[in-house]
Amino acid sequence: MSKSTNISWHDSIITKTERQTKNKHKSAILWFTGLSGAGKSTITVELERKLYQLGIYTYRLDGDNIRHGLNKNLGFSPEDRTENIRRIGEVAKLFVDAGVLTLTAFISPYREDRNQVRALVAEREFIEVYVRCSLEACEHRDSKGLYQKARSGEITGFTGIDAPYEEPINPELTIDTEEQSLDEAVQQVINYLLENEYLN
Ligand SMILES: Nc1ncnc2c1ncn2[C@@H]1O[C@H](COP(=O)(O)OP(=O)(O)OP(=O)(O)O)[C@@H](O)[C@H]1O
Ligand SMILES: [Mg+2]
Repeated sequence: MSKSTNISWHDSIITKTERQTKNKHKSAILWFTGLSGAGKSTITVELERKLYQLGIYTYRLDGDNIRHGLNKNLGFSPEDRTENIRRIGEVAKLFVDAGVLTLTAFISPYREDRNQVRALVAEREFIEVYVRCSLEACEHRDSKGLYQKARSGEITGFTGIDAPYEEPINPELTIDTEEQSLDEAVQQVINYLLENEYLN
């Protein structure tokens, strides 16, 4: 619900298409979703490094980083998680408009919230990447020590333990980090981008 009235859109002269033409690649959101510890941050960091080497303009939006600034007033209640993703979606949309291939790494546990972001942009501009990893494996990795805190009750509302994770139904890509190496995962995404003509 908008609280603002008396506002009107003012277009720029430079269009998204012109920016993409100048950059020599398409812009889109690569939306990585999955449990904590599944590998979203690890994969997007390495993917961005490879894309940078290929001369692609990228930017990475990462859950913890965004909660340090833009979304520092949000917690992990269902409402705040939804608002977190809504704002990220709007920011990612601006990056797409700026001609940037945008990588996002958020648990984004609710299907509806992810679909709301998908609905913000054109059909080919939202690429959902499900970073699949069993709860057992994520908990075993416990890369941030958060599962242990969730199990002991020090953290409540933790995704996979006492808060839900809704798997994507029809993601453009699925990466299984129990089966695939980091390099394989990164190459899978790059192949998708090449085959679907995002990079040329
Ligand atoms: N094939 C793989 N791909 C990515 N990460 C892997 C893989 N195998 C093991 N790992 C390890 O799994 C961990 C993934 O942690 P990472 O912080 O990337 O997860 P995340 O999805 O960003 O979690 P969070 O939502 O808490 O930020 C890292 O310690 C990484 O080294
Ligand atoms: Mg992360």
